[in-house]
Order: sequence, then C-alpha cells, then structure tokens
Amino acid sequence: MSTSVLKIGGSTLEKLSDTFYQGIVNRVEKGDNVIIVHGGGPAINHQLEALAIKSEFCEGLRKTTTDVLTIVEQVLSGQTNKEIVRKLKLAGAEAVGISGCDGSTLIAKEIDVHKWGYVGNVTTVSTKLLDLLLTNQMIPVVAPVAMNQLGQPLNVNADAAASAIAAAVSAEEFVFVTDVDGVFHNGKKLDQIYSKQAEQLIADGVISGGMIPKVKGALASLTSSLNKVRIVNGNAPYDERSGTIIMTQVKAIIS
Ligand SMILES: Nc1ncnc2c1ncn2[C@@H]1O[C@H](COP(=O)(O)OP(=O)(O)OP(=O)(O)O)[C@@H](O)[C@H]1O
Ligand SMILES: [Mg+2]
Repeated sequence: MSTSVLKIGGSTLEKLSDTFYQGIVNRVEKGDNVIIVHGGGPAINHQLEALAIKSEFCEGLRKTTTDVLTIVEQVLSGQTNKEIVRKLKLAGAEAVGISGCDGSTLIAKEIDVHKWGYVGNVTTVSTKLLDLLLTNQMIPVVAPVAMNQLGQPLNVNADAAASAIAAAVSAEEFVFVTDVDGVFHNGKKLDQIYSKQAEQLIADGVISGGMIPKVKGALASLTSSLNKVRIVNGNAPYDERSGTIIMTQVKAIIS
C-alpha cells in the first residue's frame, strides 16, 4: 500500500476526463491511499469578475482582501471542491471534501499582511482527519484554505499546501496535475530536472509564474523516501515518460 498526493490545478480541472477520475478510483480499490489537493484560479477569477471585485497578483500570489477571501473560500470549498467529490463518486469512490480549516488540517501564518493581506504559509499540518478518512477508504479532497492560530481563514497557494501535506503524510508519490506537459526550456519539455538545476531555472526566469510554486513545492517535499516528484498534463495520456520529474541531486560516488 502506498500513499499518493495529487495536486490538481484549477487550470486543468474543467477538462479532466472520466478516465482520469477512474484511474484514481482504481488505485484506491487496489488499496492505495490517495489524497487530492486542488486549486481553482480560473473559477475564482470568474466569480470575482462577476461581482466586480478587483484582484491583483504580487510575485505570483493573489493579494487577498476581506472581499477576495470570501470569494476564494466560497469558490474553493463550496464549488470546486464539491465538483471533484461528485466526479469521484460517479467514478465509484467515496470522497470527502474538506478545507484546511477542517480538523485543523492546515494551520498557517500570514506571510506579509501589508503586501498580500490574508495569504498564509502553512506552518503545521494535522494528519488526523486525513488518516481517519483514508482508513475508511475515503478520498480526502482538500481545498487550500487554512486558518491561523486565531481562527482567521487564510488563502494558501495550492501547490504549497499539497507539498506540506505530502511531507506530513510521508507520501511515496507526489504528482502535480496541470495544463502543460511539464517544465519547458527553449520550447522543449524537460524529462527530468535535478534539484540544483531546478533552482537555477527559477533564478534564470525559465520557470516563471504558476510553475514557480509547483517546482518549489516539489523541491521542499523531496526526502529520502520521496526522491522524485512529477509534473504532468491532466489532459494527456499518462505513462512512465509523461511530464517532468524533479529529482534529488545524485551524489557523486567517490571511490
Ligand atoms: N518553464 C515553464 N514550463 C512550463 N510552464 C511554465 C513554465 N514557466 C511558467 N509556466 C506556466 O505555469 C503554468 C502552470 O501553472 P498555473 O498556476 O497556471 O496552473 P495550476 O497550478 O495547474 O492551476 P491553479 O493555480 O489554478 O491551481 C503553465 O500554464 C505555464 O503558463
Ligand atoms: Mg497554480
């Protein structure tokens, strides 16, 4: 039995096929643990626009005012999260949608209130509720809304939330499902990148925007038991050569 964390990007959610959800259900039926963490950027933008609420990004993170926070929580927890739960049910599995606030799964701290408002970094993950669901063969579907020590909801980047959860549950597999075939450089997909190279690609601006928290999240979760993280396209067939694998640097063997 292995534990997998799948981060499903808001960028790809609408286009995911029934086969994608069936693949997850097949794994759960085989006895694997699967935890889903999802984003919801496009759906949040749509609702903010509909309500004429202004929203800006600063260094890749959405500035989150009280009004923006209300919409982020409504859309992620109330809409996107439940759409995934229903898709998994149709594919034959019981799934339970939670946000990081439920069971204190994700406790976070404001990064910089003046710069980003109610945006947080995860400081603590409680695996109690996740474990309870997994031992009952239910798929936890986590919306990346956390709370601080005082119960204030905080908007957390979904890639970072998934990374914190993957580390806390000692996942054997961690996959980012997004809208591109992997990490690209000079128009070509990179099949694998080592940690040092990934840091360099970020510094050089080759990896930018929404790919930055994904690659940083992958790097942060690499351990001796999780030595590779994959970034794949949710709308392309999945095989061993799919996507980009981010790996720990291989240490030179000195004889
Ligand atoms: N070097 C790169 N290779 C591939 N994609 C890149 C690269 N640099 C930046 N990107 C961008 O990263 C995007 C993926 O991140 P994005 O945040 O948009 O999606 P997501 O995380 O799947 O969705 P959400 O943020 O809604 O959960 C790609 O669509 C692409 O535009
Ligand atoms: Mg993103």
